[in-house]
Amino acid sequence: MQIVCSIAAMQRLAKKWRRAGTRIGFVPTMGYLHAGHLSLVKSARKAVGNNGKVVVSIYVNPTQFAPTEDLANYPRDLQRDLKLCREAGVDAVFTPKDAEMYAGRAAANYSTYVVEENLSFPMEGITRPTHFRGVTTVVAKLFNLVLPDVSIFGQKDFQQTAVIKRMVADLNFPLKIIIAPTLRETDGLAMSSRNKYLVGDLRHQATVLWSSIQTAQAIVKKMKSVSAAKLKADLKKFIESEPDARLDYIEFFEPDTLSPVSKVSSGAQMALAVSIGKTRLIDNAQL
Ligand code: PAJ
Repeated sequence: MQIVCSIAAMQRLAKKWRRAGTRIGFVPTMGYLHAGHLSLVKSARKAVGNNGKVVVSIYVNPTQFAPTEDLANYPRDLQRDLKLCREAGVDAVFTPKDAEMYAGRAAANYSTYVVEENLSFPMEGITRPTHFRGVTTVVAKLFNLVLPDVSIFGQKDFQQTAVIKRMVADLNFPLKIIIAPTLRETDGLAMSSRNKYLVGDLRHQATVLWSSIQTAQAIVKKMKSVSAAKLKADLKKFIESEPDARLDYIEFFEPDTLSPVSKVSSGAQMALAVSIGKTRLIDNAQL
């Protein structure tokens, strides 16, 4: 497995593979890898085959964190990540440095951003207004560095997949996006690098996200169509019955357009963000 730290070396390697007609599958991550990330690596391998190359990037992207967020504390363990990638049959891990990715982020040296101006606005975009600008910018940069034929994203970050798919279509990136299903712990909690923060009783309280999705699924199955406003109010009460849980948002919407629905029925997408203590978690599912 190659470990690539510089932009020039990554582009050189990607161009060499491309010239040889080798297919490149790419999994962008912020590291602190778990089984969810590794399932994306498996999808990448399946997409490019044994003759193809699988690249994982590990980069905690500063531009997608607001100044108040957990950038400095975001969990990191590069040695462990490299071991997991090696065991998963990854061909190259790309770990760039901030100084190279954003020229030290001095405005005079870095001033170009990619902004998606529709699907980025609701839900995560309300609480984290600069988040998707950071995501689209870094993913566009990574696509230019890794030159993938196919890139894999997790359904866990549903809105992110919608924004990335739109960016790829609007800016004509010559690659295919594959969305892989959410991997969960046995009690239903969606795997996430941030679950590490859930100590003591908080870990159990965090299962309320999955329970509220299951509750909504059961209600929709039974009632066929229910008022979104009523369902939101009931689920808010249910979620906040956990002592450390605070609801940020819960939305029901059309999966393709993210347009809210007023009547929730089978096929609607549900997404929610809940803080469990100081840890903000997100989850989603189709009802
Ligand atoms: P990160 O949170 O590290 O996630 C990397 C990829 O793993 C994303 O596509 C995410 O949706 C997927 N993923 C996370 N948890 C998952 C789970 N439980 N099951 C399946 N897939 C899961 O998302 C990012 O990083 C960043 O925003 C990034 C795209 C790398 C840009 O910086």
